Amino acid sequence: MNKISIVGAGMTGSTTAHWLAERELADLVLVDIVEGMPQGKGLDMLEAMPIIGKDVEIVGSNDYAATKGSDIIIITAGLPRKPGMSRDDLLSANAEIVGKAASETFKYSPDAIYIVLTNPLDTMAYLTLKTNKLPRERVIGQAGVLDSARMRAFVGMETGISLENIQCYVLGGHGDEMVPLTRLSNIAGISLKDYLPADKLEAIVNRTRKGGGEIVNLLKTGSAFYAPAAACAQMAEAILKDKHLIVPCAAYMQGEYGLNDIFFGVPVMLGRKGMEKIIEYKLDAEEKAAFDKSAAAVKETHDALKKLVKI
Ligand code: APR
Repeated sequence: MNKISIVGAGMTGSTTAHWLAERELADLVLVDIVEGMPQGKGLDMLEAMPIIGKDVEIVGSNDYAATKGSDIIIITAGLPRKPGMSRDDLLSANAEIVGKAASETFKYSPDAIYIVLTNPLDTMAYLTLKTNKLPRERVIGQAGVLDSARMRAFVGMETGISLENIQCYVLGGHGDEMVPLTRLSNIAGISLKDYLPADKLEAIVNRTRKGGGEIVNLLKTGSAFYAPAAACAQMAEAILKDKHLIVPCAAYMQGEYGLNDIFFGVPVMLGRKGMEKIIEYKLDAEEKAAFDKSAAAVKETHDALKKLVKI
């Protein structure tokens, strides 16, 4: 059986375990700093396995040793942004947490592939890659699958058409500057630009960009977790089943799209080696400008990290 360890057994981490257990893809380990919580959630989930008929071992621990021999490590540990906390405060708190999660898990699973979700996600993926000096295939940031799924859901709500017919591609950094590619996004092959009136499409793009905030405003105590967790589970499945699935993810850029030394949301092919290939779309001038603007925002956060941590 494959093994997946999830660091951070909070809302997203434990929900990722839930989606993964349903798929019977791998044995699961939940690690968290809170004593008893990952053990309790792990045992509770394990006790659900006879009911859903899945032979999956699930354990929770406060000790990284439990992650030994993992095929995939998913990092969701971190602090949410609290009122009064600046983006830089959050960066420094989460950099410490993610840096430790990366180096501790690496001791026990030197061959693992990393999926990083903690925000600021592009920069936390960068930190993971640099901390463990990994080849770029083995570190993937989750954001594009989620942002694209949100856009697909909104298009579905607008049109009533099956979500299976709706493909959307949201690229770039996971922030206000994300780049929903309306020309390439389509319903059964018809570009969204041709299918939807401009005002409707613009509303969908805006809602997608603010998708995370919309959920935070509704929940009031926390951020989205079902869809982010489903995204992590889809990525892990594509890797373990060697599917060569093309989805938008944050990947380490080495010249693609004219970008270098940053993690950036682009279409990638996921398979057993991890991030096997970056797909390069032919962007028009407007799309390229949006890409460059988003990349500049991501680079700023990378630069802030480099001031905090020696990597
Ligand atoms: N080691 C292990 N786990 C930690 C550590 C640490 N040093 N510090 C915090 N954690 C755990 C917390 O105890 C908590 O259980 O990380 C978990 C985060 O879970 P939640 O607070 O429920 O947050 P969640 O909604 O799951 O989001 C996780 O994803 O959206 C991003 O950056 C955002 O921090 C957020 C992360």
